[in-house]
Amino acid sequence: MPATTHRRRVIAHLSDLHCGHPHFVEEMLVQAIDEVNELDPDVVVISGDLTGFGFLQDYEQAKEHIDRIKCENLVVIPGNHDARNVGYLHFEDLFGPRNRVLHTDGMSIVAVDSTEPDLNEGKVGRGRYGWIRKQFSHPAELRIFVLHHHLVPIPRTGRERSMVTDSGDVLELLTECGVDLVLSGHKHVPYAWQLEEMFVVNAGTVSTTRLRGRVRPSYNVIEFTPDLVTIDQKIPGGGRERVISFDPSSREYRKYVSAASGWAPPGDDVKVVDTDTAQSSNAAGVGTGGANPVEDAARGVETGDSSEG
Ligand SMILES: [Fe+2]
Ligand SMILES: [Fe+2]
Repeated sequence: MPATTHRRRVIAHLSDLHCGHPHFVEEMLVQAIDEVNELDPDVVVISGDLTGFGFLQDYEQAKEHIDRIKCENLVVIPGNHDARNVGYLHFEDLFGPRNRVLHTDGMSIVAVDSTEPDLNEGKVGRGRYGWIRKQFSHPAELRIFVLHHHLVPIPRTGRERSMVTDSGDVLELLTECGVDLVLSGHKHVPYAWQLEEMFVVNAGTVSTTRLRGRVRPSYNVIEFTPDLVTIDQKIPGGGRERVISFDPSSREYRKYVSAASGWAPPGDDVKVVDTDTAQSSNAAGVGTGGANPVEDAARGVETGDSSEG
């Protein structure tokens, strides 16, 4: 194991920029990159969908913005939109290899291209499992796997589709490798799951209005010390709120509800009128578990900075 440092390390995780797409909002990306530069992170991860359609002009726009990021350790991989129209060739020309490994400052980051040209779903592929295992055999305090597609379904994204077709095998592989964090994007909905010893964290879209429900554009900020890992969602020009935090030794964790996630208490979709007892109530069927799930779900809400720009 490398010598443990108690210095706080910071990773900014951006995803789904979608330059060139009709729903791309350039000012939002400029704002997010200004904020990231202000943060001065140790690593910046960009987990795909840099472009709207994989066209050269989309890529050139993405490159212009990404070049403004002041961070030596930049890990960029493509998403399914970048692999459209043979766009993966432009990716290679402008950003280099589509798979990346970075071992730095006690962190091992293994990022893979999970795209298949012109398909929305993704794949890691059995042919790469041995290679991934080898990369994670490097001594590290924090092991991070990055891919564009989600490995675990994300709540509030509608009908499940376009995830990784070998997700079960990949999840087993990553847990065997002792991976601490999986970072992905694709669904444009930020979320965090714990799965065995591993935390699976999805970033939202940083700079588009291609949003689902009440979700807001956001990117993630991960901070890491030997005692605590925290993951926050930051709305460009708006608030920063905690999503999840965990103790890297005990794996004890705490989850939070953020504004960017679009979570809201279950709505009143049924109205019950009981004229016998002269009572009426809404939200039938909610709270049948004994505990109060509405309050439970809202546990740990942190107000943080709720300002919006
Ligand atoms: Fe996307
Ligand atoms: Fe995507």
